Amino acid sequence: MTTKKKQGIKLAIVGAGKMGGAVLTGALKAGILSASEIGIYHPNSKRREELSKTFNVTPLDDDGIHQAERILISVKPQFFDEVAPLIAHRSASFISLMAGVSATTIAKRVGSLRVVRAMPNLGARLGLSATALAALPQASLDDIELATKLFEAIGTVYQIPEHLFDAFTGLAASGPAFAAIVAEAFADGGVRVGFNRSVAQDLARQVLLATAKLLEHQGPAELKDEVSSAGGTSIAGVKALEKHGVRYGLMEAIEAATIRAKELSQDNH
Ligand SMILES: NC(=O)c1ccc[n+]([C@@H]2O[C@H](COP(=O)([O-])OP(=O)(O)OC[C@H]3O[C@@H](n4cnc5c(N)ncnc54)[C@H](OP(=O)(O)O)[C@@H]3O)[C@@H](O)[C@H]2O)c1
Repeated sequence: MTTKKKQGIKLAIVGAGKMGGAVLTGALKAGILSASEIGIYHPNSKRREELSKTFNVTPLDDDGIHQAERILISVKPQFFDEVAPLIAHRSASFISLMAGVSATTIAKRVGSLRVVRAMPNLGARLGLSATALAALPQASLDDIELATKLFEAIGTVYQIPEHLFDAFTGLAASGPAFAAIVAEAFADGGVRVGFNRSVAQDLARQVLLATAKLLEHQGPAELKDEVSSAGGTSIAGVKALEKHGVRYGLMEAIEAATIRAKELSQDNH
């Protein structure tokens, strides 16, 4: 495939790895863009061809990326310094999903104020990402609309002020790790009361899955109260959780992750 075929490219992807690839796949599946409208840039020509073949889209060389009107930056933040001068383009619009790199920092490096910043999470793998979105005031409505569509194709979009991105990271990006620990602890508890590991893990997953679904229709306190009947088993368990500070521990986990996200963001300024 020729690397010069750039006509009709509406979105150039710089960093078609796990997350960039998920966005690309979601865009194609949802029909937001067609394969012929997407290009992939990689500085290594062999890798560029490989990635483009994987997704069946157009490989873009230095010239191609320079002509792109819209660029999705999905490289690891530590590669941004290397990538920025290559993609810098005053009239282009940028969507970045790099963790911890502010929209203003991106704008300075790429020479355009049309920047939309997104923060997806692991749920993207299943089309269940919770994605935060914030744009600089200079981003156009079209820029924001495309970014919203791209991330709605892999889950749910939350437009939040950028100063809450670290908090979003603490809750929504690190959250799957905390929820996984809860699942693991449920399974350990199940083993302790007599189930084998596999059944205990299955039950833990099923309980969390059903609870997440139920929470689409009612608040968490309401659900807890509904299950906790007078003098019953659940309220006995709730008391044990309170005694061991589980609620406090989870709140602290989200706060600690938020503080760490802030520290990492400051490193990228
Ligand atoms: N994964 C998540 O759950 C998640 C969640 C939120 C945000 N993010 C953000 O998403 C970004 C990507 O993360 P990821 O997990 O998708 O990483 P990844 O799988 O390693 O993907 C990065 C991709 O960038 C390519 N790349 C490296 N240097 C490049 C360059 N100079 N030009 C163009 N492409 C280049 C890599 O190619 P090679 O394979 O050849 O190295 C790889 O395909 C990060 O900034 C991260 O903060 C990720």
